[in-house]
Amino acid sequence: MNQTSHTGNGALDKGEIHGSEQSKRLEKVIPPGSTIGVLGGGQLGRMMTLAGTNLGYRFVTLDPTPSSPCGQVAEQIVAGYDDQEAAKKLAERSDVITYEFENVDAGVAALLEELSHVPQGSRLLYTTQHRLREKRAVEAAGAAVAPYAEIGSEQELREAVARLGIPSVLKTATGGYDGKGQWVIRSEAEIGPAYAELSKAGTELVLEQFIPFVKELSVIAARSPRGEIRTFPVAENIHVDNILHASIVPARIDQEVQREAERLASRIAESMEAVGLLAVEMFLTGDGRIYVNELAPRPHNSGHYTMEACTTSQFEQHVRAVCNLPLGEAKLLTPVVMVNVLGEHVEAVTEAVATGRWGEVEAGSTALANVVPKVHLYGKAGSAAKRKMGHVNVLCSDVQDAVDFIQQTTIWRNQLI
Ligand SMILES: Nc1ncnc2c1ncn2[C@@H]1O[C@H](COP(=O)(O)OP(=O)(O)O)[C@@H](O)[C@H]1O
Ligand SMILES: [Mg+2]
Repeated sequence: MNQTSHTGNGALDKGEIHGSEQSKRLEKVIPPGSTIGVLGGGQLGRMMTLAGTNLGYRFVTLDPTPSSPCGQVAEQIVAGYDDQEAAKKLAERSDVITYEFENVDAGVAALLEELSHVPQGSRLLYTTQHRLREKRAVEAAGAAVAPYAEIGSEQELREAVARLGIPSVLKTATGGYDGKGQWVIRSEAEIGPAYAELSKAGTELVLEQFIPFVKELSVIAARSPRGEIRTFPVAENIHVDNILHASIVPARIDQEVQREAERLASRIAESMEAVGLLAVEMFLTGDGRIYVNELAPRPHNSGHYTMEACTTSQFEQHVRAVCNLPLGEAKLLTPVVMVNVLGEHVEAVTEAVATGRWGEVEAGSTALANVVPKVHLYGKAGSAAKRKMGHVNVLCSDVQDAVDFIQQTTIWRNQLI
């Protein structure tokens, strides 16, 4: 850090400056009553605010959409994410700053680090914003990723496809989400079109071997500046059209695999010296192997189940971690299935909140008697198909009851779990 600006001080001095800065960062506790600044005003910031408000924190968010989901429960600075003046204002009003998405503009991240206290640092963002850097960090922590190749030209893609096999997955190194910025190459004829399409983004590309997984899993780890680490129970994730549809907890996998998945997440968080939450997405293969797919340095959709089902929610844990409070216990209180409410589901779910009638499920039926659906809606002004509008945590004593309930509502038509 700033090595060059200290030239002439001698190695010992540099070490001391670095050491004291680091220990200040390790010791600094942000107590309740302080103000937490959140870059990004979406649902993750909103739920972070709701959890942190219970602990007595105040929140201010920066987001371009007036009355954003987070802005409805926190103060809001209305401005673009790359607006440096607005970022300065956020820094002035906050005792500590965090973010709810990882594509934070590098200039803004650096400015905030200089002007304010950003315990997560910019290195974690720098690594997780780029698939190749992220894969190297995961490998350095001793976890496996799908065999991959960096792609700089169509010729390199041809060679890499020959090596990694068909199918394989071409992805942009930056900016992808919900399956955007990727192409599953299923025949040699697709190599040209896939390269032409994805290289339009102008970012580096990466080719990954296709992993024939039997399940997708995720584990959310939390780490505080003082080095305490806790992991949440493994979630089994079901995607529909590349968007998370449901998370099932406990995951329907061996205890042994659960322990291994949690151990990997914790090792990655430790090796990267992450602060705050680190969500780790994984593939599980039929022979019990785990490959890490990608990381997110923030609360994650697959951790929403923790809100009612764990002793501490992922949002409270994130606040605890960035404020350097002792982390909360993260035990599962009840089996649960989280199901996402997208634009196409929101009307029926709103109706269920208002009437207690869940689609086709009859009031008083066994399907309803076996579960407790807890609804979270994000207060977004405009609804559109595929847009995340809320989620429902279906608490149950057996996850199959929750799966049956979700299917019987018919709200999530044709979306199998
Ligand atoms: N190497 C792979 N092998 C098999 N399936 C993959 C692979 N990479 C991605 N997928 C599928 O595509 C989904 C989205 O990919 P991911 O890399 O997680 O991107 P996003 O940023 O869109 O979430 C994954 O959840 C998984 O279902
Ligand atoms: Mg993903």
